[in-house]
Amino acid sequence: MAAAMNVLEVSDLHKSFGGVRAVDGLSFTVAAGEILALIGPNGAGKSTCFNLLNGQLAPDRGTVRLLGCDITGLKPHHIARLGVGRSFQIATSFASMTVRENLQTALSAHHRQTWRFWRDAMAQHVPHAEALLSQVGLLHQADRAAGVLAYGDLKRLDLAIALAGAPKLLLMDEPSAGMAAAERGDLMRLVRDLATAHRIAVLFTEHDMAAVFAIADRVMVLDRGQIIAIGDPASIRANPAVQASYLGAAS
Ligand SMILES: Nc1ncnc2c1ncn2[C@@H]1O[C@H](COP(=O)(O)OP(=O)(O)OP(=O)(O)O)[C@@H](O)[C@H]1O
Ligand SMILES: [Mg+2]
Repeated sequence: MAAAMNVLEVSDLHKSFGGVRAVDGLSFTVAAGEILALIGPNGAGKSTCFNLLNGQLAPDRGTVRLLGCDITGLKPHHIARLGVGRSFQIATSFASMTVRENLQTALSAHHRQTWRFWRDAMAQHVPHAEALLSQVGLLHQADRAAGVLAYGDLKRLDLAIALAGAPKLLLMDEPSAGMAAAERGDLMRLVRDLATAHRIAVLFTEHDMAAVFAIADRVMVLDRGQIIAIGDPASIRANPAVQASYLGAAS
């Protein structure tokens, strides 16, 4: 398999709401193990783009390919099953279950297993659950209820749950929102390490530019539904159009 194989290929994607062209002709790719940051001012079309990729919205035109297969217009559960994970926006964990049980439940769901008795369900996937918890640095919390975790640990659990679905592409809408700077750096570094280790393509939006420039391989800047720049972090920082439309305004 070619090293530069694209996990995601988006071509000429469009979505309007009434007269608003929220996504207006997006074309881009994300390779295995690559982290692409999607930035831009409020209303630029970032979340709409995510919703088109994971099937929550159907595009007016354009195509979305995952590992070469056309997934345009498929339903969210179908797209998720094909390997598109989503993290940090929706509460994916169950507060009354332990951290380990949350992972076991996610692994059972991924393997489409159902159990008649809870004790049978909770005998499954223990080593795999613990391996994932270890990868996100949560093994020492395995026996605690998810509901009592600190915010940063809950995000780690959410990430482990996403990994339980063996994603090829991970979509993260503002992963570090609401976190303190130090904790935020740790989380973003963890995402970086996991993307590299599992060869996961990551597409994320983020308003915190330090987080963006710290971990992104490439940065894509949207404005009014269109890409105004795409490239490595240094070239984006130096781009006059980006500074005028976004970075200048943000600082
Ligand atoms: N369901 C909807 N119905 C109507 N208009 C919408 C809908 N969703 C988004 N829009 C409009 O589409 C445009 C893009 O919005 P979107 O939420 O994608 O921006 P965003 O880049 O995620 O912004 P933010 O940084 O604030 O999260 C905006 O003008 C928004 O008002
Ligand atoms: Mg948004």
